[in-house]
Amino acid sequence: MTKQLTELLENNLTWAKKMESQRPGFFTNLLALQTPQYLWIGCADSRVPANELVDLLPGELFVHRNVANLVVHSDLNCLSVIEFATDVLKVKHIIVVGHSNCGGVAAAMNDRRVGLADNWIRHVKDVRSRHSAWLDTLKLEHRVNALCELNVVEQALNVCQTTIVEDAWQRGQEVVVHGWVYGLDNGLLKDLSMTVASIDEVIPAYDRAMGVVRARYEALRA
Ligand code: CO
Repeated sequence: MTKQLTELLENNLTWAKKMESQRPGFFTNLLALQTPQYLWIGCADSRVPANELVDLLPGELFVHRNVANLVVHSDLNCLSVIEFATDVLKVKHIIVVGHSNCGGVAAAMNDRRVGLADNWIRHVKDVRSRHSAWLDTLKLEHRVNALCELNVVEQALNVCQTTIVEDAWQRGQEVVVHGWVYGLDNGLLKDLSMTVASIDEVIPAYDRAMGVVRARYEALRA
């Protein structure tokens, strides 16, 4: 085994010992039950580690990550995660988290070919197409980050429009969908005010969040 991997295993040993000494029974308690309140749907980017950013322990955050934090209506991987989190774990919040300077979003914005992932990133291009008239009015250097935020709002809308979340709201289950963006440059999460707790709120929240994103980038244009 390479030196680096040995180091990872040693790190793990140290971490597990530290956790157990700080919180005796931590792992055996988790063995019995996980009761996370939140589902995090984020980008696979190594600079956006879900638990660390919000300072949550193992067992507190259910996580799904893929390139460019996409929620595609036919993606059984993501849908299975949303279903398990909603129907079994009964999470209270589903948070779509994008991040600034996302490589997947940049590839979509700039028509950069990267390989197989082009077919996945196609979904971000769909978002770009939907908002291209507005994106074209922005300065070039702001377009990627603007698309990162538009993409979060669109993916949060996709969460709201899954049969899973629609059915949960239909039966009166409390689950709130959110859209956040993480700043790689400052380590801060920003709420895009795409906050949806019922089917009636979906479109008003989408319009409000789009308004927030547009206002921020239009202010930079001046
Ligand atoms: Co990314």
